[in-house]
Amino acid sequence: MSDEGLSNLLHEERTFAPSEEFVAQANGTAELFEQAEADREGFWAQKAREYLDWETDFDQVLDWSEAPFARWFLGGRLNACVNAVDRHVEAGHGDRVAIHWVGEPEDDTRDITYAELHEQVQRAANALTDLGVREGDAVMIYLPMIPEAAVAMLACARIGAPHSVVFGGFSSDALRSRIADAGSTVVITADGGYRRGKPSGLKSVVDGALEGGENPVESVLVVRRTEQDVEWTEGRDTWWHEALEAADATHEAQAFDAEHPLFILYTSGTTGKPKGIFHATGGYLLQTAYTSHVVHDIHPESDVYWCTADVGWVTGHSYIVYGPMTLGATQVMYEGTPDTPHQGRFWEIVQDKKVTILYTAPTAIRTFMKWGKEIPEKFDLSSLKLLGSVGEPINPEAWMWYREVIGGGRCPIVDTWWQTETGAIMISPVPGVTETRPGSAQHPIPGINAVVVDDMGQPVERGSGGYLVVTEPWPSMLRGIWGDPERYKETYWSRFEDMYFAGDGAKLDEDGNIWVLGRVDDVMNVSGHRMSTAEIESALVSHPKVAEAAVVGAADETTGQAICAFVILREEAVEQADEEGEGQDLVAELRQHVAKEIGAIAKPRQIMIVAELPKTRSGKIMRRLLKDVAENREVGDVTTLADSSVMDLITQGMKED
Ligand code: WT7
Repeated sequence: MSDEGLSNLLHEERTFAPSEEFVAQANGTAELFEQAEADREGFWAQKAREYLDWETDFDQVLDWSEAPFARWFLGGRLNACVNAVDRHVEAGHGDRVAIHWVGEPEDDTRDITYAELHEQVQRAANALTDLGVREGDAVMIYLPMIPEAAVAMLACARIGAPHSVVFGGFSSDALRSRIADAGSTVVITADGGYRRGKPSGLKSVVDGALEGGENPVESVLVVRRTEQDVEWTEGRDTWWHEALEAADATHEAQAFDAEHPLFILYTSGTTGKPKGIFHATGGYLLQTAYTSHVVHDIHPESDVYWCTADVGWVTGHSYIVYGPMTLGATQVMYEGTPDTPHQGRFWEIVQDKKVTILYTAPTAIRTFMKWGKEIPEKFDLSSLKLLGSVGEPINPEAWMWYREVIGGGRCPIVDTWWQTETGAIMISPVPGVTETRPGSAQHPIPGINAVVVDDMGQPVERGSGGYLVVTEPWPSMLRGIWGDPERYKETYWSRFEDMYFAGDGAKLDEDGNIWVLGRVDDVMNVSGHRMSTAEIESALVSHPKVAEAAVVGAADETTGQAICAFVILREEAVEQADEEGEGQDLVAELRQHVAKEIGAIAKPRQIMIVAELPKTRSGKIMRRLLKDVAENREVGDVTTLADSSVMDLITQGMKED
């Protein structure tokens, strides 16, 4: 990567050691590093037996003979739902609250104990079986942040049906293509959910996805949440509560092979087609539980943990459902947005529920900074003992604000680097051991081997930058891309030999800390959500008035990056726009079009209608220059441009905007 990309890195030298009090109670210790270093596979084998209950013990830790296709814990059999729910009830913790659920409307709360969760997952497993779902069948889940989302996922795991959760912000079209790719016969949704004080429809989006054309869906289970009116297709649609009531209250769980697929989760890559990343049961469950224990430092008997992510993203899978629940933790689950009904909502929840561990995203922290420290200062945040960050680089300024204003200067911060593909945390401080450094994710956790390499795949010296790679297979690694093994090899294992290429640029500082700097491919990171430039470009060109489109992620103070699109219109559309002066209407229409094709989260912040796009002589769009324009920087070197006057035209058009 270019030096330019690295030059913005601060010379940050501050470090913060954990307090003696924190160290004394911490789950993660320095010995873990030694043990993993001495015998990596032995380490994971021991952890697998420590964190999980196996119906049949495994006889081989790792098979890497068909690299890059890994198999972990061969011969082992287990049930993920039994590990996350049943065994806690059997151990006498049935009365422990699993989920303190907080709805967005005020005073709309529910506490669900492990015993209640146990009954619900059994009924839901029976209801799914009654609908014909069998081991290996993918079930689509499209739900708001309600406890039923966790119940649905765990019920699928219980019967060996991989779930495919789609974030509630995706559109009918996006949902339709994911249903088709996974071949789901059952969709679990809700009438709607609360977002910013209003009920918003979900069932209607599912109906839209199933309208016209063929699809494999036979049944739709609908959770009643908002009680808004919904259309009903007899014979296909069933209320969730009726199906669960009608189902048997007990369900004998069967064990599955450690490598049995647990779930599929679609994420954005460098092409327009979403990738179905899939994970296997044993290794994934192990690494999510292990990291919840040693990185988030969850003590299930005393902590109240809160991860603010949505279950529709991998963070919600790993750090709301599987990791914390496998430990038997008590957690908060919140349905709504941080500013509804007021900007102190998060801090009110921390105060009311006495949250001890908070895991959130840099974009949220920067938003809170903008709102001002007077807001959190009105609440008692003294229950907090650890803070976490995930999804994008956290700038040292936001890190310090998080530490001082939210953590009262006493809570260690874990800046955790990982991906949908890695399944669980890979690089992070271990909070009772590491002296933390603002802005850096620092070191691979015990058991993980990751380094920064140069173009040739050689580890870089301290003080230099390069690419982040993982050099050894890890338990929660993706097992592939659903239905596309070639794309898996090509995307992650072809850039460097025998190393997993994460797609991120990184720098090693003088003290050996890793600073993850962001994507080096055509993927954007908007508020911690991955968006592909190609996906949004193809949504734009599917509009009849658009001839060509180029999308870039421009630096944005709050969201990290923002989506900026440059669009060339078809000739008829240009004439029309000129005649009727409809430029602004057209921009609105195009933004709406992207929302329909992908979802509201993909709407560009800015669309610029331009006459030309800067291209190299071979015809490749020069996104770097467009980025400069979008970020209002002076335009960089244009000597390789086929027609360098194009850039003048584009910048000119922007100024007139
Ligand atoms: C990409 C993965 C990990 C769950 C949420 C996002 C970026 C993630 C960090 C971090 C710097 C980070 C990377 C990564 N990222 N965590 N702590 N510091 N960058 O999962 O949607 O799969 O995105 O998010 O660019 O590749 P995802």
